[in-house]
Amino acid sequence: MTLTVLDRRDAFRKALDAERASGRRIGLVPTMGSLHAGHTSLMQRAASECDVVVATVFVNPLQFGPTEDLSTYPRDPDGDRAKAEAAGVAYLFAPPQGEMFPDEPATVVSVASLTDVLEGAIRPGHFQGVATIVTKLLSLAGACRAYFGEKDYQQLAVVRRLTADLSLPAEIVGCPTVRASDGLALSSRNAYLTPGERAVAPTLYRALQRAAAAATGTSDADELRAIMSATVAAQPALQLQYAEVADAADLSPLTTLDRDARLLIAARLGRTRLIDNLAVPR
Ligand code: PAF
Repeated sequence: MTLTVLDRRDAFRKALDAERASGRRIGLVPTMGSLHAGHTSLMQRAASECDVVVATVFVNPLQFGPTEDLSTYPRDPDGDRAKAEAAGVAYLFAPPQGEMFPDEPATVVSVASLTDVLEGAIRPGHFQGVATIVTKLLSLAGACRAYFGEKDYQQLAVVRRLTADLSLPAEIVGCPTVRASDGLALSSRNAYLTPGERAVAPTLYRALQRAAAAATGTSDADELRAIMSATVAAQPALQLQYAEVADAADLSPLTTLDRDARLLIAARLGRTRLIDNLAVPR
């Protein structure tokens, strides 16, 4: 499959309309680039379920806070093209910033309640930025299956909710987190880690695993929170931001494990923020 790179909204919309007109199903993988095996797993899944795989690469300024890493966020346009092509992508939409936001947008998308907690509490405005760009990308792409990683579990919940609320013609598909052999969830921001930090980083996954194992013997959510916090506290380089046990659907904090739950954890490690999560089915 030869890759076609597009950078204009009109050309992107027309290309996908033409594919649908020929009866082909579109699989969309929105990304911010610097592609790794987590992204390519989404593309491969899309290729196995759809006729045409489309990826987008856009480092969305709206989802970065004023003191966050927009200017240093890893960028690798040549590598992205090669990896997307190898993963079976037919169209790569990589617009310049002015193409997506010619002016400061007066219209934004805000998903209530789901975004007040966890990442939303620590990164004010982040999910409004995500929801706005995802709505824009889904609206340009038209009817499709759209693939998002469970690594950003709260983002996936926000995207599902906005798609339902706004009746967008997309089916949202959540895909499992891809991990390094030591358990660290793959993320473009892992590139910031020093070798020493990289050795410590899998502690988050260990904390999740310990809490998930304990859930077989207790239904007290606070016990699981304590296990995650203690595991992270044993590594002084990590500064815990949250260790939460939440309802898997609406992310409200749980007291008792009486339904499908999700363990969610975030910590700072030097200049890098790490997040991860794990299912605890009922
Ligand atoms: O997960 C990401 O890479 C981004 O948040 C997304 C969904 C592409 C929106 O910019």
